[in-house]
Amino acid sequence: MTRKTVIVANWKMNKTEKEALLFMDEFAPLLKKGQEAYIAAPFTSLPALVSHETSASIFIGAQNMSQHKNGAFTGEVSIKMLRSLGVQFVILGHSERRHIFGETDEMLKAKVDLAVDEDIPFIFCIGETLEQRESGQMEQVLRRQISSALKGKSGADLKKIILAYEPVWAIGTGKAATPQMADEAHNYCRTILSEIVSKNFAESITILYGGSVKPENSKELLGQSHIDGFLVGGASLDPQSFAKLTNL
Ligand code: 13P
Repeated sequence: MTRKTVIVANWKMNKTEKEALLFMDEFAPLLKKGQEAYIAAPFTSLPALVSHETSASIFIGAQNMSQHKNGAFTGEVSIKMLRSLGVQFVILGHSERRHIFGETDEMLKAKVDLAVDEDIPFIFCIGETLEQRESGQMEQVLRRQISSALKGKSGADLKKIILAYEPVWAIGTGKAATPQMADEAHNYCRTILSEIVSKNFAESITILYGGSVKPENSKELLGQSHIDGFLVGGASLDPQSFAKLTNL
């Protein structure tokens, strides 16, 4: 099964609108002809980025969205608001949202349900902490995170999902998972998806790895059979280094 390679920048809480546009000016000409790239930017830069004139295929996404459609939810941003800007995808359940801001499996199920209903492409993030890995709970955690949001959905419901495996201990630490560790975890995710959705879906879904990906370790990671691309934090902030990653 050949799956498309997808490379996504997650800028997290970095770059003003002006800095985001400077990045685009430098990055867009570096992108290989025909190569796609995805950038998840802070809300404040989204309007400028989606209207940036670039001939390259750069898709702009948000890093989060509310599980509610509208209403009294101070500080939240709705799917309709994102859509009206022309945002093309959204990240759901990033580990910083889960662990720092307390997003639960229940909240994430509601967000996934909404993304499916609204037919927006989304990247659903999962991953275990160091403590969970060291105490032998990795598989259990991945199974819980995946099942709680995706169980009961069909392959057709999930045609716009990308899964991102981001072990919490590898995020921003400089200590990426070894290619073998990441590949094993991705393979396990496919096993779960085969059980709860379908074998065909499990084989066709794009699964990204995230956690200290850099140009230096990217080739070996991408060489693994179950790794279809990356969700990149720190190394996506610099146009040259993100271009090296997208042009692999
Ligand atoms: P780093 O690449 O900085 O480790 O971050 C990974 C990540 O969290 C991407 O979503």
